[in-house]
Amino acid sequence: MSDLPPLQEATLRDKVAVVTGAAQGIGRATALRLAAEGALVTCADIKDTRETVALAEKEGGQAVGVELDVRVAADWEAGIAGVLERHGRVDLLANVAGIVNMQSEDTVVGLTEEAWDNVLATDLKGIWLGMRAVIPSMIEAGGGRIVNISSLAALRGLPNLASYSAAKGGVIGLTQQAAFEYGPRNVLVNAIAPGTIDTPILGDITPEMKAANARAHIIDRLGLPEEIASMVAYLFREGRFVTGQVYPVDGGWSAKGNY
Ligand SMILES: NC(=O)c1ccc[n+]([C@@H]2O[C@H](COP(=O)([O-])OP(=O)(O)OC[C@H]3O[C@@H](n4cnc5c(N)ncnc54)[C@H](O)[C@@H]3O)[C@@H](O)[C@H]2O)c1
Repeated sequence: MSDLPPLQEATLRDKVAVVTGAAQGIGRATALRLAAEGALVTCADIKDTRETVALAEKEGGQAVGVELDVRVAADWEAGIAGVLERHGRVDLLANVAGIVNMQSEDTVVGLTEEAWDNVLATDLKGIWLGMRAVIPSMIEAGGGRIVNISSLAALRGLPNLASYSAAKGGVIGLTQQAAFEYGPRNVLVNAIAPGTIDTPILGDITPEMKAANARAHIIDRLGLPEEIASMVAYLFREGRFVTGQVYPVDGGWSAKGNY
């Protein structure tokens, strides 16, 4: 125990971080927050991350972009090999990339097999592939921290989120499993279950639907991507005795009575 540094010295300075979904939304906010705290951030996305990288640099942070489809094992292998070449290790992985099903209705009966496969591949398999790609090097380097983004849809039934809720529920199971398997090697793995956060994933949601989503929170507004990023940064920076947990960052949604 005596080799643990004092908690007040906890910092992300020079930590090597990988953030998926970093082109926009929660992933972008997370990349910017980690870079602002001094981490060396790789911004991974299927989309162009140049804008995120430029924003990080404008604030004095260090970031690079990499094109990576989280569904594809070879992309993970190449992406993480690049990080190891640049920095020699990966300290932190934020698995943020995700989609909702836009291909079909997302009810148990109305869902198409193709849509199910795509949502599960992105939102669940992508997280497994990410953890599989980084954990061996984390163990070799003496430890690491991973945060996986789940959803409040994993915790309760909600309209039109059948494939999504299945994937996000799987993220919680896989988070606990990875925490169990690699915690003894100092790889700490946690999940966050956001409430409704104002990002492009909401698509062309009507003002009425936005207001209804806001009312579902105790704090009567949509969350900001920066509010999820701040929890990721906290777990990365401070969470050295925390693993296998799911943190709702949901404006009190999960605590609200049906009233
Ligand atoms: N916004 C919300 O209300 C909310 C609530 C709960 C959970 N979440 C989760 O938070 C995460 C981020 O969502 P967001 O709201 O920022 O959405 P977003 O659509 O703004 O961003 C998602 C990012 O993931 C990337 N992405 C999608 N498929 C990918 C793939 N195959 N490979 C690599 N990158 C890919 C997209 O290009 C995009 O940049 C997702 O996992 C989402 O399910 C969001």
